Amino acid sequence: MRLVSAANRGHTLYIRTDRFAQTDATRRGTGPAAACLDLLNPRSRSGSKPIAALYCAAMQYSCSFRCVAGCEGTHDVEEVIYRCPKCGELLEVQHDIEALSRRGPAAWIKLFDERSGSSRWPYASGVWGKKEWVLPHIEDDCIVSLNEGGTNLFWAERYGASLGLPDLWIKLCGNSHTGSFKDLGMTVLVSVVRQMIKHGKPIRAIVCASTGDTSAALAAYCAAAGIRAGVLLPRGKVTTAQLVQPLANGALVCALDTDFDGCMAIVKKLAEEDGIYLANSMNSLRLEGQKTVAIEIVQQFEWQVPDWVVIPGGNLGNVSALGSGFDLMYELGLISRRPRICVAQAQSANPLYLAYKNGWKFEPIVAQPTEASAIRIGDPVSIRRAIRTLKRYDGVVEQASEAELSEAAAAADRTGTYCCPHTGVALAAMGKLLERGEIQKHEKVVVISTAHGLKFTDFKIRYHEGQIDGVESRVANTPLTLPNDYEAVKRAVLDAI
Ligand SMILES: Cc1ncc(COP(=O)(O)O)c(C=O)c1O
Ligand SMILES: [Zn+2]
Repeated sequence: MRLVSAANRGHTLYIRTDRFAQTDATRRGTGPAAACLDLLNPRSRSGSKPIAALYCAAMQYSCSFRCVAGCEGTHDVEEVIYRCPKCGELLEVQHDIEALSRRGPAAWIKLFDERSGSSRWPYASGVWGKKEWVLPHIEDDCIVSLNEGGTNLFWAERYGASLGLPDLWIKLCGNSHTGSFKDLGMTVLVSVVRQMIKHGKPIRAIVCASTGDTSAALAAYCAAAGIRAGVLLPRGKVTTAQLVQPLANGALVCALDTDFDGCMAIVKKLAEEDGIYLANSMNSLRLEGQKTVAIEIVQQFEWQVPDWVVIPGGNLGNVSALGSGFDLMYELGLISRRPRICVAQAQSANPLYLAYKNGWKFEPIVAQPTEASAIRIGDPVSIRRAIRTLKRYDGVVEQASEAELSEAAAAADRTGTYCCPHTGVALAAMGKLLERGEIQKHEKVVVISTAHGLKFTDFKIRYHEGQIDGVESRVANTPLTLPNDYEAVKRAVLDAI
């Protein structure tokens, strides 16, 4: 049994759950563990109840890896294992649903609502505010959090009005520490590795292949934790901002003369070496954090489910995570229906779209260049997970050309966003579904914006200078170059407005 001590970490009180340590307080019967027992006593007037309640909660729940194809057996989440030893399929994190359902939906909602906006470690994070549903047994002092989650659900009032879709929302997952949704998953993975190291596992470094955002997140979380990170990037195929992020955070950056799929093949082999841990989304720990976006969206709508969620897809881990977030809420009775999901792909990198059009028969492709460089992936690792998710969510797949994604991102920017090209893909796909009546005008639609537009400055400049091949740049906007002369400035301003 774990014993508990409380300690001050800066301004926030947190609970340490040291597996083997016994503190003076617990030995004396006055610490949180004693208070936990105390809580069972209806006449108790213990002042330690909040701590005790947390401690009890952490002890009650558990999770482990299991095969997504349903093979028997489970594995500890601290085991270094990415695929089922029996069939080679990916693993997923399985929670003890029975234990979680002992606390009713209303009690979960109350707990999550109380934690949102709290500054108490680690619950300020949108991911760790749902700790029992993510990774209940993580020791709080192992958590590496950069306050991920809790992002704005932007009511796209003017953009929606321009399309005749008044209930359009954009979930700004890029408004995050490293500027993309990857932070949601990386906090979980790096925290587990920190706990593994604490428990004596000889891990020397965490590595990943990346189209630019995973590497940025891995480097930042590893730097915060003091763990070595190594990232494999396709040379010349990530933006300057994405290249600089892991460099600044001190990661070992390898720029390879290949594409993302080539980097992925090499990093999988590298992760077979002793002491090297793999951070790509085939490691389902990441998806446990990413699934909280579904919970957060529903929470932001006061526990109402939108009709549609549109999400850009590359390696297809994020759509699988989105589905598992909704699944968990559904299983635990917090919601009574599922939304429909649309995965949006760039036309130049559309293996899921092709599979969708071909009765879900999948063939890997060689992905071609696209402005949406983070989803330039031809052989997605999570293809089977994603197809299973889309089948459960009455899902569709739509694609967007370079012109469509660029114009959609720019048009939305005119109404107050600052969209990355992947969000452009999702907005363009959403527009197509709306045009053909698949999305109806009265429906509540959420578009997942996956990265911050500031990582893609070059794309924006080329759009506004009319330099993207095949793109009209319908709403291009360039600066007026003027002399240092009041009359000239006045004339120009009054002419223009
Ligand atoms: C900005 C951005 N959008 C979308 C995606 C696609 O997510 P996934 O690979 O999980 O499908 C990625 C990562 O690959 C990304 O970095
Ligand atoms: Zn299996």
